[in-house]
Amino acid sequence: MTSSQDRRTRRYRPATEAVHGGTLRSQYAETSEAMFLTQGFVYPDGEAAEARFKGEDPGFVYSRYANPTVAMLEERMCLLEGAEASRAMASGMAAVTASLLCDLKAGDHIVSSRALFGSCQYVIAEFLPRLGIASTLVDGTDLDAWKAAVRPETRAFFLESPSNPTLELIDIAAVAEIARAASARLVVDNVFSTPVFQHPLQLGAHTVVYSATKHIDGQGRCLGGIVLSDEAWVEEKLAPYLKHTGPSLSPFNAWVFLKALETLELRVRRQAETAAGLAEAIAGHPAVERLYYPGHRSHPQYALARRQMTSGGTMISFDVKGGKQGAFDFARALEVVKISNNLGDAKSLVTHPATTTHQRLKEDERARLGIGEGLVRLSVGLEDPEDLAEDLLQALDRSALPKIRALAG
Ligand SMILES: Cc1ncc(COP(=O)(O)O)c(C=O)c1O
Repeated sequence: MTSSQDRRTRRYRPATEAVHGGTLRSQYAETSEAMFLTQGFVYPDGEAAEARFKGEDPGFVYSRYANPTVAMLEERMCLLEGAEASRAMASGMAAVTASLLCDLKAGDHIVSSRALFGSCQYVIAEFLPRLGIASTLVDGTDLDAWKAAVRPETRAFFLESPSNPTLELIDIAAVAEIARAASARLVVDNVFSTPVFQHPLQLGAHTVVYSATKHIDGQGRCLGGIVLSDEAWVEEKLAPYLKHTGPSLSPFNAWVFLKALETLELRVRRQAETAAGLAEAIAGHPAVERLYYPGHRSHPQYALARRQMTSGGTMISFDVKGGKQGAFDFARALEVVKISNNLGDAKSLVTHPATTTHQRLKEDERARLGIGEGLVRLSVGLEDPEDLAEDLLQALDRSALPKIRALAG
């Protein structure tokens, strides 16, 4: 097999690399990427096996360590992200956990923004401390809070921007600077921005993680994740962790993601354009108490969004009047948009974070994060934008009706 290009050298623009980057063609010269659904690899003799295990022959050994289809995905993602190296994992959470556990040890300390996806919050605030790795959660928008949280043993910073589900932004370049001064590694979960709209490595982050389950698949099929960083760190820290603890990605899932990357840019640009239009359409609706969309001028960090992202993204959140009942009435009235906790899908999906993705948090912690009972998170899909606008507006009208009637009566 030969690589279609030198590894990690981006020769073309991202949309081209998303189609061709990293392709390894077999002796059959297939057009579409091959799926190597194999656990292992055979050797012509004992000497060849010995050389492979010693690393003297660079071929594949076992799919827990590396696999040709998974390697194509890793290479294509490096080219899109501008990273030197990466490793794909079985889920986004496997990637988040690997990005931290492969490097941190008992006695170390991590600082993280407080506005996190529920499972990221669990890993940082509960799981790592159990292993003797202390963590401090800060208001990620407050740069002084990051500085104040640094200790001599701080080894990592972690953040999501935009955050799940309130779409709060963090100034990645500024936090990267603070991390560098503290000799800590900044890990950015870039799920909500996608590799198309934000480039944390260019902003100074050391590591980027994705749940490939979201926009990278984009059609609700497979779980997966990926960690991207510099080659030395990936080879010394991440690769041995993956090889020996085994959160490896299935070659089948890697193949699905590879094919999905071919349409990533097209999909997320269209989804983000629709999202911007929908945010505008619902902003003034009487049933909407507050809108959160980084691409809308009402967002408190609109200027940062314009500086740091090339689009407002595909996600919108808003508080529906009437608390939990108002949000549930709204969700029930939707016809095109489905109720589901996933995101980044071709299908538009709505979630009520307080009772699903963030139900594990205590009520006061949710309140502190702005996750109210009326908050809904909308992942904008690929349906006709007019159908989506009509669906949202009719559902908002219906959720507002009982209150309007009560006021009238
Ligand atoms: C910001 C963020 N990070 C990580 C994950 C975890 O991804 P996965 O479900 O693939 O494990 C999610 C999933 O919802 C997420 O929203």
